[in-house]
Amino acid sequence: MKPVLVLYYSRSGATRQMARLIARGVEEQGVETWLRTIDCAEPQDPVVTQAELEEASALALGSPTRFGGMAAPMKAFWDDTAAQWLAGSLVDKPACVFTSAASLHGGHESTLLTMMVPLLHHGMLVLGLPYTEPALHHTQSGGTPYGPSHWALEKGISADEKTLCLAMGRRLADIAKRMAP
Ligand SMILES: Cc1cc2nc3c(=O)[nH]c(=O)nc-3n(C[C@H](O)[C@H](O)[C@H](O)COP(=O)(O)O)c2cc1C
Repeated sequence: MKPVLVLYYSRSGATRQMARLIARGVEEQGVETWLRTIDCAEPQDPVVTQAELEEASALALGSPTRFGGMAAPMKAFWDDTAAQWLAGSLVDKPACVFTSAASLHGGHESTLLTMMVPLLHHGMLVLGLPYTEPALHHTQSGGTPYGPSHWALEKGISADEKTLCLAMGRRLADIAKRMAP
């Protein structure tokens, strides 16, 4: 089985921290990860290649919230995937999304929901988090049924946010294993 691609953009590191937790959740299920970023000023991880995007068994996609949506560099990345869309390279790949935002009501849900849109155009199987995750019921910070989120003005990632990042990674890997040939 091919690795799960954990692909993020991050300027001040919060989304990157979430990416690492989600990757850990994937790996807890015995599935390898490719932890990658997009082409940007100071990449902290390897920059994703087209081949990795096409070959990965699943995708976890993360972006900071910018004015209630994904960051422009991440949008530009997707605007450059017409070839994959034409070829149907991402059809039926499981996927999930995650975000970090500075204010509690400043766009966690709107960013996650709109990040799903290009993935749906690509035919991906977009997963959220089910309410069987207890942390979803009592989180006082980030974490949504549309995917993990982080309230970045809190001190570091909260216990519930961390739990939900790990759970998202495990769920993505579990579904990817079931979908694997
Ligand atoms: C141009 C810009 C727009 C932003 N818009 C929002 C926003 O709409 N809502 C919000 O809660 N935070 C907003 N933020 C804050 C970032 O989402 C937040 O700092 C995030 O944690 C950064 O993630 P990173 O550390 O991975 O770069 C914005 C930041 C910038 C630079």
